[in-house]
Amino acid sequence: MIEIHNVQKSFDGNAVLKGINCTFETGKCNLLLGGSGTGKSVLLQCIVGLMKPDIGSITFDGTVFTNNKVNIRQEIRRKIGMLFQGSALFDSMTVFENTEFPLKMLTPEMTKEERRDRVEFCLKRVGLENAGNKMPSEISGGMKKRVGIARAIAPNCTYLFCDEPNSGLDPLTSLKIDELIHEITHEYNITTAIITHDMNSVVEIGDHIIFLHKGLKLWDGTKDTILNAEVPELKEFIFSSSLVRAAKRVDEQEGGLESISAEDPMNAH
Ligand SMILES: Nc1ncnc2c1ncn2[C@@H]1O[C@H](COP(=O)(O)OP(=O)(O)O)[C@@H](O)[C@H]1O
Ligand SMILES: [Mg+2]
Repeated sequence: MIEIHNVQKSFDGNAVLKGINCTFETGKCNLLLGGSGTGKSVLLQCIVGLMKPDIGSITFDGTVFTNNKVNIRQEIRRKIGMLFQGSALFDSMTVFENTEFPLKMLTPEMTKEERRDRVEFCLKRVGLENAGNKMPSEISGGMKKRVGIARAIAPNCTYLFCDEPNSGLDPLTSLKIDELIHEITHEYNITTAIITHDMNSVVEIGDHIIFLHKGLKLWDGTKDTILNAEVPELKEFIFSSSLVRAAKRVDEQEGGLESISAEDPMNAH
């Protein structure tokens, strides 16, 4: 579990995070949901140590990360897998070499054969067992995300962070990537945090959802409770999603017809 306590961050007097308190639960897909510019990426960068919060603390399974000793912070960092927004593969390396890269960096004690076994296992897990020799330029956007996931989980990460994993993907490929992240999270009991503004992801894989708005957490809950949340900013966000608008229209039409025939005997025949 990752615990965020009163995290605040400003840039030149512009308060971006205004005291965030939330937890990312173990073995779950924790979604950081919110519109553009609400501070999702800044919070993620604070959590993984790319940025330092002005105030507040971040704890990984009971070990404080913020302001702790360098070796303790490095130990936590080694357990973090990151899927970057644009996949961020190395163009000059094959799919195999991209996946092997963090193993060479983080686990120098592994032999070449052990690395090969691990890379082959991870590529198979993401459905790319035959793509090891391909270059990033030869594969689709969805495949690149899969390589990104394989690379993130290769060093047996305890924590997985994904920044907008569906950006630039078509709806079906997005669904497949969401499902893959969800399966891997549950299978290996990883604490996964996913930045998104996609309501499709919310209803598919939102085990735990944290809604950010203008640097504050306004709500958290699950995909089963989000549609009934009584937070105006969250309602506005949800109903601005075209999918949910369409679903709500169908629901209203069906509910409306039922209620007419049930309540008004004049309409019953
Ligand atoms: N390194 C930075 N320096 C100054 N301002 C930043 C920096 N990073 C982010 N911001 C500002 O913080 C706000 C939130 O950004 P961000 O966390 O990227 O939003 P999003 O929720 O879309 O991920 C934006 O107004 C952005 O301009
Ligand atoms: Mg962002």
